[in-house]
Amino acid sequence: MNRKFHITTFGCQMNEHDSEVMAGMLLEKGFEAAGDRKEADILIINTCSVRDNADKRFFGTLGALKKRKKDNPDLIMCVCGCMMQQQHVIDTLKQKYPWVDVVFGTHNIHQFPALLENVINERKKQISVWPDGGEIVEGLPVKRLHDNKALVNIMFGCNNFCTYCIVPYTRGRERSRHPEDILKEVRGLVADGVKEIMLLGQNVNSYKGAEGVDFADLIYMLNEVEGLERIRFMTSHPKDLSDKLIQAFVDCDKLCKNIHLPVQSGSSRILKEMNRKYTKEQYLELVRKLKEAVPHITMSTDIIVGFPGETEEDFEETLDLVRQVRYDSAFTFLYSIRKGTPAEKYENQVPEEVKHERFNRLVDLVNTISAEKNALYKGTVQKVLVEGSSARNSKTLAGRTDGFKLVNFHGCREMIGRTIDVEITEGKTFSLEGKVVE
Ligand code: SAH
Ligand code: SF4
Ligand code: F3S
Repeated sequence: MNRKFHITTFGCQMNEHDSEVMAGMLLEKGFEAAGDRKEADILIINTCSVRDNADKRFFGTLGALKKRKKDNPDLIMCVCGCMMQQQHVIDTLKQKYPWVDVVFGTHNIHQFPALLENVINERKKQISVWPDGGEIVEGLPVKRLHDNKALVNIMFGCNNFCTYCIVPYTRGRERSRHPEDILKEVRGLVADGVKEIMLLGQNVNSYKGAEGVDFADLIYMLNEVEGLERIRFMTSHPKDLSDKLIQAFVDCDKLCKNIHLPVQSGSSRILKEMNRKYTKEQYLELVRKLKEAVPHITMSTDIIVGFPGETEEDFEETLDLVRQVRYDSAFTFLYSIRKGTPAEKYENQVPEEVKHERFNRLVDLVNTISAEKNALYKGTVQKVLVEGSSARNSKTLAGRTDGFKLVNFHGCREMIGRTIDVEITEGKTFSLEGKVVE
């Protein structure tokens, strides 16, 4: 009987994609995917370290599995991802969780099958974490989570060192994939039924393909791929967003008219402390240019509340910026101290209750604007790429508009994977309701 594996993934789409690669490699080696954790003989936890609650969830999950391992010593426990790139985590694992069998990092995922076979054959614990990324390994197998949309890495790592952020330490320096490798992968995906691709990078705007191909050039190249319907990307750093990319939104019909443009704060003073390299005014000017070029563009953002030294005035600047931009949606985070980052040492940390109070005010504003913007869709007809049926009711389908709005509506399973016209009947805070146009 083949051994079965189960992967738990925390964190961002990079991690989600890494898990798809791990699953692809294990399936290729003859392992089978388990339906759930209970029926698996190999458990894998792919970790995130971006905020303290991500770390806590990992240790919570791991702790809960201790008994499983005790009852079944043949169970193989594997941990990987961003947390493993930090020495203090490795030390904690060695001291408190010695029953973990395989530990690897973000830079040597391709070694996972070999590490696993070592454990199986030699019954010896395997710890292998590379401090930084070597050559990009191309051509690894991928088991996609979705049939008609795919995550495509265009670059790895981050060079920006925002002072609050752990990612540059867990993902290493920026490395871009060769445009030909990306095109080859995308053509293969389209041949396999993929309609939509999400290009991934911590800062796609600093993509540099081999022969001086920048991110906008890559979009123009991908726009020519026959059979591909939609191109999205994530994430875009405001400091490097070029006029050329704004023009690509105008010229490239497949590029979805939607942008996730993390602002982090509306206070130029705090932005400087964060090492974001733009001011509130520069950010607003970018937004103005985007809206001028693409009037219907939808926008989302990330905002951190309670960065060290944030005053009530700084926070009001953030509220003001949100009112001016009127985001379609925003991810809001309480600042979380990360070990080894510059901001860890900043003295004027904001008290928890102040952070929470500001956070709630921000969420209220963001949600009010989201609901107002979504209400405007009522009565319009949207092209929706149908992604699947809702977990609760198989007759309820869910899909996304070009602008990334989630739409729920009644339909039949045959519609999955197709782009259909849906009339919007109601706009809610986080989604739209609609009915299929006959
Ligand atoms: N590379 C992306 C962000 C990746 S992390 C970018 O620069 O846009 C995703 C989000 O997590 C960030 O945009 C930020 O808002 C948030 N984040 C990162 N570090 C954080 C911290 N220490 N505390 C709270 N939020 C944080
Ligand atoms: Fe973190 Fe900044 Fe890099 Fe984004 S750009 S991953 S926030 S350091
Ligand atoms: Fe988390 Fe690593 Fe992504 S820290 S947000 S999984 S890059």
